Amino acid sequence: MDHIVAADTNGIRTAAAALADGELVAFPTETVYGLGADATDDDAVAAIFAAKDRPRFNPLIVHTADRAAADNLVRFDMRAHRLAETFWPGALTLVLPRRSRSGLSLLVSAGLDTAAVRVPSHPVAHDLLRACRRPIAAPSANRSGEVSPTSAGHVAASLPGPDDGGPRLILDGSACPVGLESTVVDLSTDEATILRHGGVPQEELEAVIGPLAVAGVDETAPKSPGMLERHYAPGTPLRLDARDAADGEALLGFAMGRGKATLDLSPSGDLREAAANLFNMLRHLDDGGYATIAVAPIPEEGLGRAINDRLRRAAGGDENP
Ligand code: TXA
Ligand code: MG
Repeated sequence: MDHIVAADTNGIRTAAAALADGELVAFPTETVYGLGADATDDDAVAAIFAAKDRPRFNPLIVHTADRAAADNLVRFDMRAHRLAETFWPGALTLVLPRRSRSGLSLLVSAGLDTAAVRVPSHPVAHDLLRACRRPIAAPSANRSGEVSPTSAGHVAASLPGPDDGGPRLILDGSACPVGLESTVVDLSTDEATILRHGGVPQEELEAVIGPLAVAGVDETAPKSPGMLERHYAPGTPLRLDARDAADGEALLGFAMGRGKATLDLSPSGDLREAAANLFNMLRHLDDGGYATIAVAPIPEEGLGRAINDRLRRAAGGDENP
């Protein structure tokens, strides 16, 4: 793939120039790869939706190099301030009221008067944001409904090429260390609400600002389309809470004994390692020609909550997307 380029000084300079020209660039973050565009440019943002084949009503996360740059876009209250102080740069996205003079594309917020902001910690994402000196709107760099990419090769396999509406280039920053999307917390109302579980566990957030509500997946009008029931889906059906594999099934294990699982998310039972492996291993098994992917139980605590959330969505409903 000749549009995958090394994330060195030269690659980052080229990517920043492409973004300034209104083009799309895929880049690594600590969570997953993002498909980026200048968040102040409606046409560029529209190109993201087209490249992903994504429904237009889905608002996007805006990435900035630091807190100060985010302050220009949205209004922080004390809760937001404390969470940003504790978890930024990192895998936490805050939904806050847009400033009237933010300059952000309206399409970024899909018409809402809020915007989702995040300061990523990945050095390549950080250097890119510094170099292009503008906020970057970036959803995960995959076709809508597919598993989020954690390597440059996944991005290239999932999105169209540069001449067919895909990113002009893909910055190769090797594998994403967290491997799960950011946690999305809505602070636009008095009730702080987790819209999506992700890389920062609920318990760690609550230790800083107290109890959080969690948006339910079965709300009739979900606040975040990320909470729609089927969202992160491999093509092969999943069977959850499995202890063994039946004939024709792959077994995705967690802390299973040697040789039992087809692949093990973390032989030692480490949820961080399991999160980082999740999308990679699902992809690998999805390509393996199995009838079903059976998945071992994952503890419902810490990062396990986000892992189970992704797995339940991937298994939800009876038809595959
Ligand atoms: O880790 C991540 O968050 C990755 C990397 C690239 O940063 N990005 C990502 O973006 O996962 P995306 O677009 O796939 O997910 C954005 C989530 C969705 O659930 C979306 O609905 C929600 O954030 N969101 C964005 N803006 C919102 C807003 N104004 N109000 C409510 N939810 C919002
Ligand atoms: Mg996504």
